[in-house]
Amino acid sequence: GLASILPGPSTQVVQYVAQRVKGPDGTVAELPGSYLGPLLRLHRGQKVRINFRSKLAEPTIVHWHGLHVPAVMDGHPMHVIDNGETYVYEFEVLNRAGLHIYHPHPHELLGKQLYQGLAGGIIVNDEEESKLELPSGEYEIPIIIQDRRFDAQNRMAYVPTMHDRMMGYYGDRILVNGRPEMALDVASRAYRLRFLNGSNARIYKLGWSDGTPITVIGVDGGLLETPETLPYVMLAPGERLDVWADFSGRAKGSEFTLRSLPFQGVLPKMAGRMMGGGMGGMGGGMMAGMALPVGSDFPIFKVRVTRTTSDSPKLPGHLSSFKRYTLAEVANPAKPIPIGISEAPMAMLLNGRPYKFDDVQPNERIPVDTVQLLEIFHAHGGEGGGHGAATQSEGGHGGAGGDKPQGGMGGGMMGGMGHGMMGGGMGGMGHGGGQSGGMGMMGGMGGGMMLSMAHPIHLHGQQFQTISRGIGAGEAEDYATVKDGFIDSGLKDTVLVMPGEKVRIIKPFQDFKGLFVYHCHNIEHEDMGMMRDFLVE
Ligand code: C2O
Ligand code: CU
Ligand code: CU
Repeated sequence: GLASILPGPSTQVVQYVAQRVKGPDGTVAELPGSYLGPLLRLHRGQKVRINFRSKLAEPTIVHWHGLHVPAVMDGHPMHVIDNGETYVYEFEVLNRAGLHIYHPHPHELLGKQLYQGLAGGIIVNDEEESKLELPSGEYEIPIIIQDRRFDAQNRMAYVPTMHDRMMGYYGDRILVNGRPEMALDVASRAYRLRFLNGSNARIYKLGWSDGTPITVIGVDGGLLETPETLPYVMLAPGERLDVWADFSGRAKGSEFTLRSLPFQGVLPKMAGRMMGGGMGGMGGGMMAGMALPVGSDFPIFKVRVTRTTSDSPKLPGHLSSFKRYTLAEVANPAKPIPIGISEAPMAMLLNGRPYKFDDVQPNERIPVDTVQLLEIFHAHGGEGGGHGAATQSEGGHGGAGGDKPQGGMGGGMMGGMGHGMMGGGMGGMGHGGGQSGGMGMMGGMGGGMMLSMAHPIHLHGQQFQTISRGIGAGEAEDYATVKDGFIDSGLKDTVLVMPGEKVRIIKPFQDFKGLFVYHCHNIEHEDMGMMRDFLVE
């Protein structure tokens, strides 16, 4: 087995030194045998103090993903501490019951630190939820899913190439709660499975192997109003899912698996072609990373019914009540705050610029205690052929790249795909002598990237509602493989935006002023600068 999982050679052993959380419900439960941090259990209304001490030889800070806390308690990258320093967090748990995450948030180091194990779950409970008497104790199981690569010594290896940074860093082994090959021995009764996608980049399409639909009772921000039954559910990095898994009536000895089912459209089309033909220039890293291709069919964990019982709780018809805003209540019904996704050479951007601390634009200044309409869209998706090459200044590089056959390929792709910036930049790389073979291939990939890729967009602060989605005609076929796996009826803080998709959300900005980041939760994208600040003032 992988009992000897150790941090990779280039990284020091890191750990959270967090004080045990005090308070009536503040017990700390461990995930035995895991590299993940302890599961923190908090209660709504509880006042929490956590002393975070860093033993890392590089900057870090902790963010409480999903919790609504003051800006200075939110783990903004500007608050990083150094080796030996302590950051004291004090906040009141304002959230309703739900599953959240703590993870590092230093800019440009998040991917590595999260990968090496600096993360854990936070379960908040409240009175409304307790009254439901949902399965608890041994019948409530956290399922933190991560994919990892291991080197020849069986150590986790985080060594992203430029290609990994563009696509996200994918592993070829699936770990649940920090352990491989998870198998759950269950009784024939209902369980509550609390899913959290803690992967850096991998998106899952969760489904039962025998075709049983998935009954969802909650998402990122807590319980839904009523249960929803779906054929499968999409789970992107940073997203959570509360699942009612009813094994009652199952025979003793029966076995089935929770799988990630096949889907398309998450990665740029061209990347697939690249893998077939483009090995030379890109090196082995890409193949290694795609040993378990994104969108392929693979098991996540196995369930074995080992005990029968006739004593199972019933699924409540009504789960919870929470405030839902209407367009009439938002400050800007006709003028949504834009969150434009763009993919540029060697960069992934929001609103056309890479992250720079405090670089807030007029539309990123939000009056406190308002509710806002936001629109997330692909800024360059679906533009006409040739448009980009003609109008982007970087398009000129594409032409220069044309001196080399490979560079020409990059530039040519671009022209055809209508985005001069990407192909132009990549094509230009073709001048790099010995590198030209590989970079020419990247030019080709750049062409494919014009079709864009999926991004899980996460906004700090309070949870939001997803009120509408729209998809471009060109992407409809791929979209059909994922479209029945979204749950828009609950409160979210991370939303998967598929290629060509436009998503409208309503989000409150209440209680706390200050800088709060929003970013892509494909962590490699975030590290590349696909992050921006909101200044709530
Ligand atoms: Cu899960 Cu900004 O974070
Ligand atoms: Cu967050
Ligand atoms: Cu992204």
